[in-house]
Amino acid sequence: MDIDKIKKSFLEEIEKVKNIQGLERLRIKYLGRQKGHLTQILRSLKDRTVEERQKVGPLANALRKEIEELLDKKSTDLKAKTYNLKANLDITRPGLKPKTGHFHLLTQVERQIRQIFTSMNFSVVEGPEIEDEFHNFDALNIPKDHPARDCWNTLWLKNPKFQIPNSKLLLRTHTSPVQIRYMETHQPPFQIIVPGKVFRYEATDASHETNFYQIEGLIVAESVSLANFKFVVEEFFKKFFGKNIEFRFRPSYFPFVEPGLEVDIKLKKEWLEVIGAGMVHPKVFKAVNYNPYELTGFAFGLGLERLAMIKYNVPDIRLFHSGDLRFIKQF
Ligand code: PHE
Repeated sequence: MDIDKIKKSFLEEIEKVKNIQGLERLRIKYLGRQKGHLTQILRSLKDRTVEERQKVGPLANALRKEIEELLDKKSTDLKAKTYNLKANLDITRPGLKPKTGHFHLLTQVERQIRQIFTSMNFSVVEGPEIEDEFHNFDALNIPKDHPARDCWNTLWLKNPKFQIPNSKLLLRTHTSPVQIRYMETHQPPFQIIVPGKVFRYEATDASHETNFYQIEGLIVAESVSLANFKFVVEEFFKKFFGKNIEFRFRPSYFPFVEPGLEVDIKLKKEWLEVIGAGMVHPKVFKAVNYNPYELTGFAFGLGLERLAMIKYNVPDIRLFHSGDLRFIKQF
């Protein structure tokens, strides 16, 4: 067979090939090592005269290349066809749902709380997680060497990259320093909430983490009172738990409020403490150059994990940051 004939018959045959197996047979027929039509021609070259070799050799090699390319292309086409055939087999079959993630329970709860307070006309503001002693303590009426500092087991920064004169750096132990930062830069009246991460150097157990979230609240105006705070709290509980919740104010102490109190809610005959609060202390107003004789305010702080645990029956605070999908997927 000469080259032209081989080419012609190959082109005819490849047209008729219907599947991968047929294509493989065709490849062997033309390019097979033993008896392939073209292989035989290439092999016979050595027995030919030099002139013949120079004429036939390049033609045969070019044809081999062409055949290889055509086989490749046909193979791709056939594979695409069988794939489509299989995929289209049952068009009523439900598709595969892509796996999507969702917000972590804590994020969901934080969003609920943000939404409730913004619906009551609060603004949401944030502050730094690395704080200085002044904002975290001094300005909040917790002077150096005052025993009240022991209430917050503080993580102090060693050799920080930047420094603030007369004020050591720390990881904020509560979101209250943002009260100070906000008042330093804004004039009343205002009402804000401050969601944020806080840090305490404490042993962990089912209800304590070194790392948790708080939401701070602050209202400052000419004349606000604990009665206003009571209304806000009542609204908040109603919206957050979706029903009326029995709650009580219990006297308590925080250096930056006077009077100070804690809010307990009653669930299943049990009183649970959920919010620390009180009227802003005059010394706090002084620290930010507000006139305590002209202004009043109340502040409150709540623990995000604690509220989430109560609402969603989470038994151990450590579950939130465990990264355990069996926990995360339940919400
Ligand atoms: N910052 C207090 C705490 O971390 C909570 C609090 C905030 C109390 C505002 C009163 C007023 O415990």
